[in-house]
Amino acid sequence: MAAQTSYPTFSGSGGADVAIIGAGIVGLTAAYLLAQAGLSVVVLEARRVGRQVTGRSTAKITSQHALIYRHLIDTRGIDQAQYYAEANRRGATQTLSWIDQLGIACELQRKDAYAYTCDPGQREDIKAETEAARRVGFDAQFLDRAPLPFHTAAAMRFPDQAQFNPAQYLIGLSLAVEAAGGRIFEDTRVTAVDTGDRWRVTAGKGTLDVRHVVIATNLPIAGPVEYDGRTQPRCHIAMAFRTAADVVDGMFIGIDEPTHSIRMGRDSEGPLLVALGPRFNTGQNGDVAKRFRDLETWVHSHLPTGDAMWHWVNEDYETADRVPFAGAPSDEAPGVYIATGFNGWGISNGTATGILIADQIRGRPNPWAKLYDPRRPAPEDFVQGGESQSEVSRIEDIPPGEGGIITQGEEKIAVWKDEHGKPHRLSASCTHKGCVVTWNNADCTWDCPCHGSVFQADGTVVHGPAIGPLRPVTGPAKP
Ligand SMILES: Cc1cc2nc3c(=O)[nH]c(=O)nc-3n(C[C@H](O)[C@H](O)[C@H](O)COP(=O)(O)OP(=O)(O)OC[C@H]3O[C@@H](n4cnc5c(N)ncnc54)[C@H](O)[C@@H]3O)c2cc1C
Ligand code: FES
Repeated sequence: MAAQTSYPTFSGSGGADVAIIGAGIVGLTAAYLLAQAGLSVVVLEARRVGRQVTGRSTAKITSQHALIYRHLIDTRGIDQAQYYAEANRRGATQTLSWIDQLGIACELQRKDAYAYTCDPGQREDIKAETEAARRVGFDAQFLDRAPLPFHTAAAMRFPDQAQFNPAQYLIGLSLAVEAAGGRIFEDTRVTAVDTGDRWRVTAGKGTLDVRHVVIATNLPIAGPVEYDGRTQPRCHIAMAFRTAADVVDGMFIGIDEPTHSIRMGRDSEGPLLVALGPRFNTGQNGDVAKRFRDLETWVHSHLPTGDAMWHWVNEDYETADRVPFAGAPSDEAPGVYIATGFNGWGISNGTATGILIADQIRGRPNPWAKLYDPRRPAPEDFVQGGESQSEVSRIEDIPPGEGGIITQGEEKIAVWKDEHGKPHRLSASCTHKGCVVTWNNADCTWDCPCHGSVFQADGTVVHGPAIGPLRPVTGPAKP
């Protein structure tokens, strides 16, 4: 477990060259580069540094993103595929060199990265991907099988990639931001970005006037630009199993459905095998706990592991063309920058887009601007909003420790019962745009099926784009 940060909460008023909203990998990368360049930088983090999507990822630092390079060559041409390769290579090497230069203790390990299939019918896809990856400059190798203790039909290896503890890395990077003159505030949720002579950023009772705003909140919060119609929120479940020793050597991503991702990790008790299950649309699954049971069964039947020690859910946003959106999204909002839609590969892409945004703010040319251009067209039917999966007829149908949605007159009420069976009632309307939330019975959260906001059982925001908690419902329960 990484050390905690304890930066103050922002209050009062002030000014800076740049406000960075969000202390994840994108925000802190941009913050460090801009502070080093001599700009005054303020980072505003709603929760704690590095604890959200970045901190909960499997943290493979790699340019090997399953099957991507053939797709990019076919859909965006060889030049943009080259830029994607270059940006991700640079993102990875930048991370590794900061770990080295700044002496960040983050359990860095060099590992090969493998994409594998168990289906002989997919061998040709792996072969074609290997060739595509070699065309854009990687030392990719085709293998008849992956070095895994179960049968595979083919694999592709990218040698000498890496894995690390992302929360520890971001804590180290936050110290570097401070040392370079940047200021960081935690427990500081930004609730508005308004235009004026400059941009006015509101967080609690504090306001900050700035020339540039970087909205690095994984999905941009509602503000001068909206991105929720262009990216699909997707969750993965992750589990860590006790093992006697390292049972795999490398980082593995399956290309088959249902897909699995595998690597080793550690906690204070010793080695752990970390496995990820298949993705699903956030808030559109009514029994996330079953996904954990399925993943546990799969792991125990494929890998020599002991008990499940940890489990968690994480989400990221996908784009239709599988390339993130990053940069300046609109002429109507000069000085505003966003980065989103990392498709589950935001360690290298997140660092690359942080570099891109820092270059753009400094007026420096960057060859990846077109690749990540947030103004490029996106299909209108890509985002599949959904309905709540947790509707029940009566409050009595909700067991202790669980949540459900009941209808009261015109209103949908989110009811969570604590372990003593006492009901706690909240409005079920997501405070972003009003969709009715779904109970996540694994993480005990309310998840929005529209744009991926996540709220704790008590309504507190865990993940935006929502900026406010689910509203409490007062008064007696109505039939
Ligand atoms: C299960 C899973 C596994 C993954 N594994 C990998 C992997 O192995 N390799 C890889 O390359 N990528 C991986 N990814 C993807 C990668 O983790 C993400 O794309 C990346 O971490 C996103 O970084 P971020 O900075 O956008 O988000 P975050 O790290 O979530 O940072 C955003 C920050 O903004 C803050 N924030 C939000 N709203 C506000 C507000 N209103 N005011 C102030 N602050 C706010 C949040 O609290 C948060 O700290 C994985 C993703 C998932 C879901
Ligand atoms: S996240 Fe947009 S309506 Fe809930």
